[in-house]
Amino acid sequence: MADHWFEPIADHMGAAYLRYTFTLGTAQEIDHVVSELGLEPGMRVLDVGCGPGRHAYELARRGISVHGIDISQTFVDVAEKEAPAGATFQRMDARAMPFEAEFDAVICLCQGAFGMMTVNGHDSDVLKGISRALRPGGGLAMSAFNAYFAVKYHEKATFDADAGVSHEKTEVKDQTGKSKEVDLWTGCYTPRELRLLLSGVDLEVKSISSVEPGAYGNAVPSMESPEFLVIAFATPIQRLGTR
Ligand SMILES: C[S@@+](CC[C@H](N)C(=O)[O-])C[C@H]1O[C@@H](n2cnc3c(N)ncnc32)[C@H](O)[C@@H]1O
Repeated sequence: MADHWFEPIADHMGAAYLRYTFTLGTAQEIDHVVSELGLEPGMRVLDVGCGPGRHAYELARRGISVHGIDISQTFVDVAEKEAPAGATFQRMDARAMPFEAEFDAVICLCQGAFGMMTVNGHDSDVLKGISRALRPGGGLAMSAFNAYFAVKYHEKATFDADAGVSHEKTEVKDQTGKSKEVDLWTGCYTPRELRLLLSGVDLEVKSISSVEPGAYGNAVPSMESPEFLVIAFATPIQRLGTR
């Protein structure tokens, strides 16, 4: 499996990741996703770049079975530790997922693999795998960092206009509070780019909304929210095996 720059960061944070304020609105995020995708108990969901499994846990608690994949073994271990019934986890690279029409829905939230590339094309590989994993008509909820917001407000970051990647140095803490300086690269998107990328892998966009962690909703895209939330569905063309 190819290495990923985020793995040493996850190794340092471990379960301390779940203390960051952006993780505290998980239940609201899942309420919204469940409603938008029409998820029901008994359905099967793939959580791409699941991290320590916070969204997977919330889905499983609602009777929806979830398989979470993440490139970080440390995060997979944290996720498995107190997993509720119906939530399973596995170390896997989202750029090379083997799933074929197996899931009623896919979630890929908070830069869960999509938007964590430093090489052009990796995000497309993640999206192709997501599209292949969905059964015909299955739904996708995916967040992406807002490029307009990054340029306007990320004063401490540098923005690579060619790649659309925001780079910042920051500090992350471990369980004991010990800090480590790390580099973060965040792939940023406009709604138009997201629509183009998704249509290229036979995913039909239902909506793109301006959102922030813990406050998912249906606001029209603007430059003022840190993230966009994409709701999309696998188009019938997939049934013809054209991918
Ligand atoms: C910011 S965290 C988000 C985790 C989780 N989705 C959440 O909302 O808390 C990004 C996650 O994506 C994972 N990731 C990044 N690139 C990946 C890849 N190529 N394959 C699988 N997981 C990846 C990281 O290990 C990390 O757990």
